[in-house]
Order: sequence, then C-alpha cells, then structure tokens
Amino acid sequence: MNHCQVSFVLPEGRVVETRSASGITILEAARAGGLEIQATCAGRGRCGHCRVQVEGKLAPPSPVEQRILTPGERARGIRLACQARLEGDLKVILPKVAAGPAKILTAGTAAAVPVDSGFTKKVVILDPATLEDVRGDYERLRAKVEMSQPPLAILRQLAAAFRQGEGKVTVASFKDQVLSVEPGDVSGELYGMAFDIGTTTVVGSLLDLRTGRELAVSAARNGQAVHGADVIARIQFAQTVPKGLQEMQKKVIQTLNTIIADLLQEANVKPESVYGLSVVGNTCMQHLLLAIDPSPLGTSPYVPVFQSPLVVEAGELGLQVNPQAKVLVLPNIAGFVGADTVAVIMAAGLDQVKEPVVAVDIGTNGEIVVARDGQLWACSTAAGPAFEGAQITCGMGGTAGAIEGADVIDGELKLQVIDGEPARGICGSGLIDLIAVLLEAGIIDETGRMLSPDELPDEVPADLRRRVVAGERGVEFILTEDGENPVVLTQGDVRELQLAKGAIYAGIKILMNEAGLAPQDLSQVILAGAFGNYVRKESAIAIGLLPIAEKDKIVSVGNAARMGARMALLSQEVRDRALRAAAAAQYVELSGRLDFQMEFADAMLFPRPGGHLDKI
Ligand code: FES
Repeated sequence: MNHCQVSFVLPEGRVVETRSASGITILEAARAGGLEIQATCAGRGRCGHCRVQVEGKLAPPSPVEQRILTPGERARGIRLACQARLEGDLKVILPKVAAGPAKILTAGTAAAVPVDSGFTKKVVILDPATLEDVRGDYERLRAKVEMSQPPLAILRQLAAAFRQGEGKVTVASFKDQVLSVEPGDVSGELYGMAFDIGTTTVVGSLLDLRTGRELAVSAARNGQAVHGADVIARIQFAQTVPKGLQEMQKKVIQTLNTIIADLLQEANVKPESVYGLSVVGNTCMQHLLLAIDPSPLGTSPYVPVFQSPLVVEAGELGLQVNPQAKVLVLPNIAGFVGADTVAVIMAAGLDQVKEPVVAVDIGTNGEIVVARDGQLWACSTAAGPAFEGAQITCGMGGTAGAIEGADVIDGELKLQVIDGEPARGICGSGLIDLIAVLLEAGIIDETGRMLSPDELPDEVPADLRRRVVAGERGVEFILTEDGENPVVLTQGDVRELQLAKGAIYAGIKILMNEAGLAPQDLSQVILAGAFGNYVRKESAIAIGLLPIAEKDKIVSVGNAARMGARMALLSQEVRDRALRAAAAAQYVELSGRLDFQMEFADAMLFPRPGGHLDKI
C-alpha cells in the first residue's frame, strides 16, 4: 500500500505531520492523526462544513464536491475533507473548528416543586468502642442509620472518618444507599446537578438539595458535534469509526466535566459534596452518555436499548463529582422521543392539563407532544438541522456574528446580528425571519421558489430588488456583501427550510388527528427549547410553521427540558410522574405513514402573505 505524507497546518500555525494510506479521505487521515475537522453531516457530503484548503496531490473532485463547492472555491484549492482522497503528499490548512461562545438558552419556566429528592445527610454520634463493646465500625454505624450494604469504597472510608471525627460523622444517603461517610458535621453541604444534554448544547445547574435553591447555571456546546450535527450522524460515527462509541462518550463526559467545573467554581462547592445528578437528553444522547450502542436507533423499527429510568454511579462514568454520587437517567418514550421530552412534559405540566395543548421542541429533530385531559400523544419528526443553522449555505449556530432577525423598515432591509458584530452567517431564527420577509415582499412565492431578478413584482422595494441576483448556485438573496465571503440566502436554503417546517407542521397535524383535535380546539401552542425562545411568533405564523394564526396562543417556555431535569432531581414525586408519563404516552411512529407523507407534501407550501396553513 502506498503512503502519503500529509502536513496539517492548524489555525494557530502549528504543523502536524502524518503518514497516511493513499486512497483514504483527508477527514480519515486527520482523525487518525488525532485532529478534528468540523464534520457536521458526519461525512455524508451534505453540509459542506468540512472545507479545507489544500496544496498537493488528491483524486479529482467527487460529484458531491462539484455540487457543493463553487468554481471559485475549487480554483482556490478548497476541498471537502470527507470527500477528497489522498493520492500523494499533501499540505492541508485547517480552519478554526468553532467560533466564539454560543448563545445558549439556559432560562426556562416550570412550576415550583416541594423538595423531596431522596438525598439526605444525617449527623451520627457513634458509641465509642470499648473492651466491652467490640462491634465493628460498620455494625456500629448500622445500629444508628438504616442502610443497605454500602459499596466497598464506603466501608474503606469508615475507619478514617470515625477517628478523624472523634466519633461524629455525617452520612450522605440516597434513600437507603449510603453515598459517603465524612468526619464531623458537614450536613450543610448537600448538592446536586441537573443536566439537559442536547445534540448541540449541554446545560447544567447546581442545586442545594436541602432547599432546592439554584446556585449556578452553566452551558457548553456538546463536544460530540465535531463528529456530526444530528443524531443520525452520531449513530453512524459510533457504528462505523473504530472506538467511535467510546469517543462519543468521552466527548460528552468532557463537556459535562467542563460544566461541572464551572458550576463548582461559581458557587464555591467541593466536588465531593455533589451527591446526585439528573440527566435528560434525547434517546440517542442517553445511550451515548452510557456508551450503550445506539445502532438499533438507526434502523427500522428504531428500538432503543433501554427506555426505563436508570441509576448509575458518577465514578463509573468519569464525572468529576463524588464518585458514589447517583446519576438519575430519566426514562425515554421511544427511539426518537427521549427523556428531554419527558422533562418538557413535567416542566409544562402536560400530564396534568385539561385543555388541549400542543408542545413542540424544535431542534434537529422536532419532538411534538399533544396533551388533552391527562392523555399524551408524542412523535418526532426529522426536521433536519436547518433550524440550528446547519445545512444552510451560510448557516451557523447562535454565536456572535449570526443574523438572528430581519425586518424591512421604510423599504430597507435591517438585520439583527448577535452581539452587533459584522454578519458572518445566519442562525435558525434569522432564517425564519428572512423567509417571512421575502414572502411578504413577494420575492419568494407560495411554492418556495425565489423569483429571478426579471420576475420580481414592481412593488418590491429597491433595496430588496438589488439583493436578488443569479449566482453560481441559482437565484440568491444577498444579505451582506462585505469581505471575502458574502452572506447569502440561496434557493437551496429555502428548500431546506421548507422540508424542516413541513415536517414539523405535518407531525403536529398527525398527532392532532390521533387525539381528535382541530386547530380551534387548541388552548395553547407551547414552544420549548432555544429555537422556540428566539423565533418571532409572527414569523413562525407567516411561514406556516404552526397550526394556529393567533400569536397570543403561542407561549415560549425556554429551556423546559433543563427545568424538568431540575424538578426530577428535587422531587421523587416528579420522578414517579415522569415514569408514568413516559409509559402512558402514546408514541406515534410517522415513518412509513402515507397520511404523514401527504400532510408533509401540503405543509411544504408557504401560506399566502397574511394567511396561514389552516388546513388542519
Ligand atoms: S460535507 Fe463533509 S462532513 Fe459534511
């Protein structure tokens, strides 16, 4: 086998030399050398985010590269790392993997719950050992505290704790399981953490388990994202890359440990004083956290390895808190409706509402729940990552420089950019706003076609008219012309958005049909998650994302999944409710349903300006 010398030039200028087999891709060569290249679609040739600049010998551009890369890019030596195959020695210039801290939604609304977590601390004064009383330390403790047999690690703590505390110790327990025995009275230090592990971002909070008070909140991007933006890409990575599953677990544990360190530092709490953690996430994230092979989720009938709630030890996962701390993994409903949806059900009290309600958590997948009279129906639609800015030509996450909103004021396009920086791309809420603006102006028609410059109606304002151009990728709308890389919206981007919003709308409709509901029956449409928080309600209605046209009925509840995780950590009653809701929710599988396909085809259309898709 021929080998090639590949020199990777990192963004900071450092050079990493590797020897790689001829015929493999640049992405494979980078991974073999321990380097990361942003591969949002996991090398499926869809996202174009693995662009690198090369000098040297490679196989000719693949059909995917010819489609995604412009002739100008190809002339500058830009290639897709997941497609370009080595044929000789090569220099590869890597771009920065991520830009700036993400604008991550941490806030959310939820009902307060009485604290009844099952985590307790008790101060115990032990009878001193004498020649007349020669019971062992364990037996002496057991006489004062009801407990099941503790793990060996706890028994090993006893002798030192008893003697250092001169007979006074504090016993931390979860129900009847002892988690630590510490010298003296440290009963005031009883903490827990609640996590929402999203495909894109992870949010955690530190709570005082005695009072329920939240002491700190922190968030970070999910480190797994470098290997793929959506769950299908992550499953594929775990399945096909050697040690891929372990790598996925390592990435999420690293992310959690970064957040844990932040939380502890902010509240000045010791890691050993954290005794309980609750975790929610979609079913795939739950599997990857535990390094349980998620492959069955990737093929019909999409069955998870587990749905039930699990309790594991923090030390077993490598989490940097008390190693005996209990990690409460909340239950999943189905392969694509996970514990994060169960947490939203808890936070919004959907298991207890009387009036019909629809709740939608829009991310890479759109999880939808319809609730009525204590009954629940749930489904998931593959909305694709368009709402998170991926697979959009100039798409990006909600970080500094992302266009997050758009308006037309006095005939001029006004863009809102995160942190007021020069625009570098478009995030999900900006995409919805822009398309709403272009629909209103008549630049995009109901079928989603972007009109060419000579087809534009006379009423289109001059500032918008001059931005419509016939570009290398078909008709484009230019948002900013500054710099080397102008920010544009392409016809392809509009199609991506149509697919995403059509899937959400059709999913809602199918669930409403199952529940026997019409749009006028709905008392509320609840939007959970970051997208639901930042999207403008008027724009969501204008593009036909939701089944209602009354803006007052749309309620954003923020990061409800985190709030549900928090409630579950603090309350056994909520954990019991979560278990009942997960078991009772009627899961509706959309794939293969003809009625879904028909609804989806209809829902891809845009409403006429001022109208909405009220066919439900
Ligand atoms: S196109 Fe290469 S990773 Fe997506």
